[in-house]
Amino acid sequence: MRSHYCTDLDTTNIGDSVVVCGWANSNRDHGGVIFIDLRDKSGLVQLVCDPADSENAHTIAAQIRDEFVLKAKGRVRARGEGLENPRLKTGKIEIVVDELIIENVSETVPFVIGDNNVGEDVRLKYRYLDLRNQKSYDIFKLRSKATIAVRNSLDAQGFLEVETPILTKSTPEGARDYLVPSRVHNGEFYALPQSPQLFKQLLMCAGFDRYFQVAKCFRDEDLRADRQPEFTQIDIEMSFCDQEDVMKVTETLLKDVFKACGHEIQIPFNRMRYKDAMEKYGSDKPDLRYDLSMVDVIDIFANCTNEIFSNIAKDPKKNRIKALKVPNGDNIFSKRQMQGFEEYVRKFGASGLGYFQMKEEGLKGPLTKFFSEADIQKIIDVADLHVGDAIFFGAGEKKLVLDYMGRFRIFLAEAMNIIPKDKFEFVWVVDFEMFEVENGKVKALHHPFTMPKDIDNTPIDEMESIAYDVVLNGTELGGGSIRIHKKEIQQKVFNLLGITDEEAHEKFEFLLDALKYGAPPHGGLAIGLDRLMMLITQSDSIRDVIAFPKTQKAQCLLTRAPSVVENDQLRDLGIRLREKIK
Ligand code: AMO
Repeated sequence: MRSHYCTDLDTTNIGDSVVVCGWANSNRDHGGVIFIDLRDKSGLVQLVCDPADSENAHTIAAQIRDEFVLKAKGRVRARGEGLENPRLKTGKIEIVVDELIIENVSETVPFVIGDNNVGEDVRLKYRYLDLRNQKSYDIFKLRSKATIAVRNSLDAQGFLEVETPILTKSTPEGARDYLVPSRVHNGEFYALPQSPQLFKQLLMCAGFDRYFQVAKCFRDEDLRADRQPEFTQIDIEMSFCDQEDVMKVTETLLKDVFKACGHEIQIPFNRMRYKDAMEKYGSDKPDLRYDLSMVDVIDIFANCTNEIFSNIAKDPKKNRIKALKVPNGDNIFSKRQMQGFEEYVRKFGASGLGYFQMKEEGLKGPLTKFFSEADIQKIIDVADLHVGDAIFFGAGEKKLVLDYMGRFRIFLAEAMNIIPKDKFEFVWVVDFEMFEVENGKVKALHHPFTMPKDIDNTPIDEMESIAYDVVLNGTELGGGSIRIHKKEIQQKVFNLLGITDEEAHEKFEFLLDALKYGAPPHGGLAIGLDRLMMLITQSDSIRDVIAFPKTQKAQCLLTRAPSVVENDQLRDLGIRLREKIK
């Protein structure tokens, strides 16, 4: 229907006859001449309907309201002197319309397209209107480019794209399953995949050597700003590989994807041991765009005369005393602000937050009286303090201290406005622990199919795994591991996780069987495509990069899913509802 998209037109088209199609973004009547801003996916162009040019077009233009669907034929001309609009790509020209067709009318829309002050609930209910704004279109254009770059990069690296089932059996990734009842087998359920983990391992057993998929995954878990119940992974698996091989493939892939999105990134990425990330940054996904890190001062505090600290320092295996240096912090923050920071960390379980200020005359602060001169000097040395710096302390149980000090680090960086927004800082976090023990229950830190480093000779709480995460700007972008390819090791790991042989047989017989018949060494990783796009487009929420996202309560406000179903449907499935849990 059209000869050009709106913003294809510029001064080189002056004099051309053109046909453009789109929506009336706005219109105004200036002394009998009607101006319409026509919008399509590319942007805006101004239509001019002057009765002197076409009586008919002008009559039709007079009926137009916002969001009417139009087709306009006309001639491109330069805008008059002083009437150019430098904010528009097409601001130097306009189209003098000689034929105007209303392809469809529109009722008054519930909100003005592109208005950011509209509540998210309304925007999600009318998502198709919300998506009409240029910013959204640009996000999805980039997402499409990135996805195509994924396919091209992995194809060039010898990977085969294979689809794996959506109706399947549970694949444990640590969340609850979404279940689908079977009609044919009443009382039985499929699970939607939390990831294609086991299928991709089976494809390695099949000898496919290098697999990938742009895979939909489903997890029934508590939602956050970077989590959705249904999301997309770039899922990769390869055979006869070690950790280095997987990292190289991933780095090349990410370089290609960023390039397609207009960014050059440096590879290879830096690496950090999981333990070091936790100890220095209080997080397994450190944001390295800014230079704040913690040092250990438990040895120094062991000598102090404050009983609370010296008692905590008695058990350096179980406890931590961590110092976070803030360069120039004493100059930036008032004493009152420093005291106020304590409230922030208390929210995450801290019992307090100590601080020192590095003054001309030496280290000052409420705690200095508990330390000898020599120990004060040690603190200055270990944290490399200079006049004007501030230093904050957290003390207590290891996991708790690392967690709240890690959060405090981010809080401070935000408060000081030192996070560069246009920087991409990648890091590999490696040498994860194999298990975590919570309330006496052993869980796999990655997943149960990850290869432990030395299962026979390491105690369970010290065992490491060949697992790695790729972290970007403080967000876990992806994670993977080298897998267990021997049945005996897999069974041992199941046992350590408290899964009995019968349970393992019932749930994972197919995997254990496959491992019996010549499974090759293999490994891989998955990158969250939605998270990747969120970071590339600097979006605040994962919902901005998903066309039809769910709310924080896992609802689709547009279609009103989930919803009740007919009794007949339930009967077919052999399901009777219990009373709704309030
Ligand atoms: P993992 O569970 O770490 O690994 O997931 C990989 C990546 O997927 C993204 N992701 C999510 N994105 C949005 N919403 C969610 N609810 C969500 N959950 C995860 C993250 C994460 O880093 N099978 C393994 C991979 C492997 O070992 O190869 C797996 O799924 O970006």
